[in-house]
Amino acid sequence: MSLVLSHKLCILGLASNTLVKELTIQTEDFDLTVMEYLRANNIPVASSCYGEGICRKCVVKLGEIEELSCLISIKKLLEKKITTISISYL
Ligand code: FES
Repeated sequence: MSLVLSHKLCILGLASNTLVKELTIQTEDFDLTVMEYLRANNIPVASSCYGEGICRKCVVKLGEIEELSCLISIKKLLEKKITTISISYL
């Protein structure tokens, strides 16, 4: 028997000041980066370095802290108990 965990994640648009989407994180998402996860759920993430951590265009706000979404995993996000991602251009 395998344990299935799911967690809710709210995507807030700072430009529109709205809840853009409410997503569910599944166990199979844990190894994705936040950028990969957002894109897989049709949330656009800017990038010109293809996730190399160079361009800084993929910045999102996790709580009060800005992070490069290409360098933080979904698993790490859950470890930090982050339930909301704020994106400036949405
Ligand atoms: S995609 Fe360029 S720093 Fe994240």
